[in-house]
Amino acid sequence: MTRALITGATAGIGHAFATELASRGHDLVVVARDTVRLESVATELRSRHGIEVDVLTADLTSDDGLATTVGAVTSTTRPVDLLVNNAGSSFPGWFGTTDVAEEDQQLDLLVRAPMHLMDAALKAMSGRHHGDIINVASMAAFTPRGTYSAHKAWLVNLSQWANLQYADVGVRVQALCPGFVRTEFHQRMGADTSTIPRWMWLRTGPVVKASLRDLERGRSISIPSLRYKVLAFLSRHAPTTLVAKVAKRGR
Ligand SMILES: NC(=O)c1ccc[n+]([C@@H]2O[C@H](COP(=O)([O-])OP(=O)(O)OC[C@H]3O[C@@H](n4cnc5c(N)ncnc54)[C@H](OP(=O)(O)O)[C@@H]3O)[C@@H](O)[C@H]2O)c1
Repeated sequence: MTRALITGATAGIGHAFATELASRGHDLVVVARDTVRLESVATELRSRHGIEVDVLTADLTSDDGLATTVGAVTSTTRPVDLLVNNAGSSFPGWFGTTDVAEEDQQLDLLVRAPMHLMDAALKAMSGRHHGDIINVASMAAFTPRGTYSAHKAWLVNLSQWANLQYADVGVRVQALCPGFVRTEFHQRMGADTSTIPRWMWLRTGPVVKASLRDLERGRSISIPSLRYKVLAFLSRHAPTTLVAKVAKRGR
């Protein structure tokens, strides 16, 4: 029995992680901003799977919210064995036309928060010689496409290095790189998804199962589904202009 802390556990990919890990008997710490929704997720998972679920209301773009979550990651009385750095969002517009204050918030949520949580987890886990970290990045990391892609590329790069660096002390680190996943993400950012072909959409359940399977295999990058593995390969080897054109379709 282990304990997993999942940020953004009330919706989409984070909720699927919570459901899958609960079904495998893991205790959870669930983090998001909406307390009512967190309590509802916790109540359901406790009653369905008989596990312990701690609820932590925190806005990860705020200093207080981040510090509270770091505190939960470093707890010695309720140690966290798996950190899932998942919470994320985006907003419309290309860098250079957007409000830089909004860009700051994105940077805080997609880079600063995972960095602080990862730092805390690596210190706690390497001391115990055991632990796993999953950083939810994106296929967007493999294409030059504004700040969102750049933030996810940063997370992939750091995860790859950390997986090697901390292997000796029993800590595994993975960057999960899904393509388009049916969640609340695009709806929340007000994106038009009508031009995205149906075959490009993934479901949260298989994405999470692929990530956990790849973690067991010690893979530092998990790309769920064969179609996206092929696209990732092409994005590394096809001409940059073609990659950029295809990537323009959405995030
Ligand atoms: N959906 C896709 O196509 C896709 C593809 C590749 C990668 N991703 C990545 O997958 C991750 C999860 O996205 P999703 O698609 O599952 O999104 P989602 O369905 O919109 O869920 C986002 C979750 O994050 C929480 N959250 C958002 N802002 C937060 C904040 N400031 N502090 C704390 N929690 C916050 C939300 O809860 P509250 O609103 O209550 O805080 C919610 O639980 C993100 O990192 C995203 O970049 C998504």
